[in-house]
Amino acid sequence: MPQRLSEFLTQGNAPNDLTAVIMKLLEGCVTISEEVRRGALAGVLGEAGSDNVQGEHQKKLDVISNEILLAAAEQAGAYAITSEEMEAPVVNPQPTNDYLVLFDPLDGSSNIDVNVSIGTIFSILKKPNGLPRADGPRNDVANDSSWRGGNADEAIQMFLQPGTRQLVAGYVTYGPSTQLVITLGNGTTSFTLDQNEWWMTTPSMQVPVDTKEFSINASNARHWEPPVKRYVDEMLAGKTGPLGKDFNMRWIASMVADVHRVLTRGGTFMYPRDAREPDKAGKLRLMYEANPMSFLIEQAGGASTNGHQRILELQPQKLHERVAVFLGSRNEIERVTGYHKG
Ligand code: AHG
Repeated sequence: MPQRLSEFLTQGNAPNDLTAVIMKLLEGCVTISEEVRRGALAGVLGEAGSDNVQGEHQKKLDVISNEILLAAAEQAGAYAITSEEMEAPVVNPQPTNDYLVLFDPLDGSSNIDVNVSIGTIFSILKKPNGLPRADGPRNDVANDSSWRGGNADEAIQMFLQPGTRQLVAGYVTYGPSTQLVITLGNGTTSFTLDQNEWWMTTPSMQVPVDTKEFSINASNARHWEPPVKRYVDEMLAGKTGPLGKDFNMRWIASMVADVHRVLTRGGTFMYPRDAREPDKAGKLRLMYEANPMSFLIEQAGGASTNGHQRILELQPQKLHERVAVFLGSRNEIERVTGYHKG
C-alpha cells in the first residue's frame, strides 16, 4: 500500500502548522482538479474578461483557481499570501502561523481550453525574523538585517527572499492523472490523487545528469541571445555536430507539464530572455514559477540557472520579477550556463 501524503509529512518531521498549510492548499488543488476535469460542463473554460497585474488576459480558470487557493491559505492561518494573479499580497487579518504562501494558481493558461495539461505551482516561505509574530503584538517591526521594509510596502518586502529560503515548494499537474510533486528540502517526491487522497507514487525523483531531450519555444529563435542560439544550434546539429549526439525536442507551453517530464525522464527546460521585450529579464516569474521549480529540480539532482547564476540565490527586487530559466539535467545546464560566461 503506498504511503499517504499526511504520513509522509509527519515522518519527515514537518511542523504541524506547516503540514496544516500544505494540506489545506492541496484541498484547494483537489477542488481545482475537479473543475478542470469537468471543463466545459463546469462552465470554467474561456476568458474571464479581465487582465492580471502583468497585463495578461485572464482565463476564467485563472480567476477561479486564485480565489480557491487564496481562501485555502487564509483558512490555514498563513500570515500573508501572494499570487501571480494579484497585484499585491493579502495579509491575513487572523493569522495563526508565520508562513508566507506564494502561488501561480493556474500555470499554462493557454492550454486550458484545448484540454492539455496545466498546473498549480506553490511555494512557502517564513516571515523574516523580527517581523511581528502571528501570535504576538503586530507593531514590533523589525530589527533584523534581512528586513528591508518600510511601513508602506511591508507586505511586499517580507516576500522578497531568495529561493534558498523556501521551506516547501511544489506543483500539482492536472493531466491524465492529477499528481503532486513536492519538496521540503529533503528530496523530491511525487504523489497521485485518488478519491481525494494523495498517495506516494515516486519516493525520490531523480533527474539524470545527461540527456538527449530539450524544451524551448523555438518560434522565438530569432530573438534569442547568442549563447542560446549557439547551444540550440549545436543540439540541432545532432550526431555530426559538436555535441556528438541527436537530441529530441518537446514544448508543451505549460511549465508544470514540461518540468514534470524533466523530473520524470530527464531533459532540459529553457525560457531565456530575448529581444522582444529587452526590459524584461525573461517571461517566467521568479517568485511564483522559477524559484519553486528550481528547488524541486535541485532536490532531484538537477541544476537551475538564469544563464549566469543559480536561480535560488537571486535576491528578488520585485514581487512580480521575471527571470530567464535554464533547468534540468545537470551537465547540459552547466554547458549552456558556461556558454553565457564565454
Ligand atoms: P501563464 O502563467 O500565463 O499560464 O504562462 C505559462 C508560462 C509557462 O507555463 C510556459 O512554459 C510558458 O509560459 C509558455 O510560453 P509561450 O506561450 O511563450 O511558449
